[in-house]
Amino acid sequence: MKPIVANGLRRYASGMTLNDRTSPLSLLETRRSGKPRDMVAPGPSEAELVRILTIAARVPDHGKLAPWRFVIVGPGQRRQLADLIALALPEHDPDANAAHYAKALEFAHQAPALVVLVSAPIKGHKIPVWEQQLSCGAVGMNLLTATHALGYIGSWITGWPSYSERVHDAFCGPGERIAGFLFLGSAGEDLEERPRPALDTIVRIWDPPRD
Ligand SMILES: Cc1cc2nc3c(=O)[nH]c(=O)nc-3n(C[C@H](O)[C@H](O)[C@H](O)COP(=O)(O)O)c2cc1C
Repeated sequence: MKPIVANGLRRYASGMTLNDRTSPLSLLETRRSGKPRDMVAPGPSEAELVRILTIAARVPDHGKLAPWRFVIVGPGQRRQLADLIALALPEHDPDANAAHYAKALEFAHQAPALVVLVSAPIKGHKIPVWEQQLSCGAVGMNLLTATHALGYIGSWITGWPSYSERVHDAFCGPGERIAGFLFLGSAGEDLEERPRPALDTIVRIWDPPRD
């Protein structure tokens, strides 16, 4: 295997400015999610959220199927989400203790804004479900990037609630799945860089098969 990158050189080292909005490229090169529990107000306004979701939906989408949905959990609905997750918790973990309940409550109340991204592939369509799911992943990524481009912080979290049947049924129709909870807000704590894979570990020149 012939590497095309000689070493694990990274252009941005420690001390770099994260989510640097100086230019489109600097934002992409320094993008960093925040931790939902550290997010504080302000979150995106209603108009900004519309803008974020419009950008999120502008993704590669084979067949123009739009096989994804957004469900906004309004600020006044967090308590109901917490109740739902508390009901789902013992189904997920029959041994759940008070600390687990507290964490579930925290999950539901994190960050000023919350959007649930739902993957809604059309089964039996000539466009494979896999491609439709990939498109949903692109939506999640665009949603985060748009959020960061507006000066906010986003975080894409599944956690166990995404896999709970009860939570699923509260957000999804048949054949749909929760792709994640997208928490949006402002960074309440300094962000820290996260290690990124060195290119030489993930890139290679193709070796064509010889007969
Ligand atoms: C589909 C999906 C689900 C995720 N779920 C979780 C999760 O439940 N908990 C978590 O800590 N990070 C989760 N992550 C990872 C974070 O969203 C984030 O990508 C990671 O912390 C790296 O930060 P970055 O976005 O700055 O690269 C998930 C990522 C994806 C794509």
